[in-house]
Amino acid sequence: MSAPRFLSSFSMEGKVCVITGAARGLGNVFCHALVESGCNQIVIIDLFPADAEAAAKELVRHFEENAGVKPGSVEAIGYGVDVSNEDAVKAAFVQIVQKWGKVDVVITAAGIVENFSALTYPTERIKKLFDINVHGTYFCAREAAKHMIERGNKGSIILISSMSAKVVNQPQLQTPYNASKAAVTHMASSLAVEWAKSGIRVNSLSPGYMLTQLTKTILDKPENAGLRPVWESMTPMGKMGDPSELKGAIVYLASDASSFTTGTDLRVDGGYTCI
Ligand SMILES: NC(=O)c1ccc[n+]([C@@H]2O[C@H](COP(=O)([O-])OP(=O)(O)OC[C@H]3O[C@@H](n4cnc5c(N)ncnc54)[C@H](O)[C@@H]3O)[C@@H](O)[C@H]2O)c1
Repeated sequence: MSAPRFLSSFSMEGKVCVITGAARGLGNVFCHALVESGCNQIVIIDLFPADAEAAAKELVRHFEENAGVKPGSVEAIGYGVDVSNEDAVKAAFVQIVQKWGKVDVVITAAGIVENFSALTYPTERIKKLFDINVHGTYFCAREAAKHMIERGNKGSIILISSMSAKVVNQPQLQTPYNASKAAVTHMASSLAVEWAKSGIRVNSLSPGYMLTQLTKTILDKPENAGLRPVWESMTPMGKMGDPSELKGAIVYLASDASSFTTGTDLRVDGGYTCI
């Protein structure tokens, strides 16, 4: 049997990839997708060092034990970094560049959602959400770009936004989250224009309803019994997405396959935002 053929520009070989919020959920699935596509050097950033380090170990174990990857060929490091802490983000990127000499790809998946009505949302929690979803995303993109520009290496930065940047979710109330994601999508196109001449591409990826811990936390609340069928009925494809259904999109945006794509928002939402 001949080896499977695939477009070589999708290969992630030789690229140092940094993914935030990657101890679990979509960020963790993105790590798997990148390694499956040939990435050998990957950094997992998450809030707590123990979670980030355990996820890095587990990623390597998975590929060595289940995918026939030669021991030692895939290296993963876990860093505990609160992305809303500017100094901690700066320090993490300095450490990454000291270790591997460069950063090629950054994916910002760290993010939170909370549900309160606009009239009752506690102000401190609105600020915290913006600190993580908007400022944290900005700090990570900016620190990565600084190192890319200093070293003259091209790069791809992918900001994880949401279909909530474009539509208002129903029936759960989450105005600050929706506004934060609109900011993230427009941040991606603004940074794309600012850094295009430096060879840095910036795009956003906007998922629809995907089954992860973030959405499970909402669905598991007693007051939200019956919510999943509502979400599914509002999605033309009639289901929530499996996180693995984002793998193709993330590898496309991270790899040279998207070399002329910058400032775009890629929606992967089962058709939700079409109606
Ligand atoms: N799941 C969905 O349906 C969905 C849909 C659209 C967009 N998104 C977005 O995708 C991203 C990932 O979502 P998910 O469903 O995987 O969520 P998740 O809650 O399962 O995972 C998020 C990860 O981010 C980490 N994190 C949170 N705050 C952090 C901080 N301050 N610093 C560093 N790490 C932090 C968490 O510890 C966690 O590991 C989020 O930005 C979310 O808004 C998710």
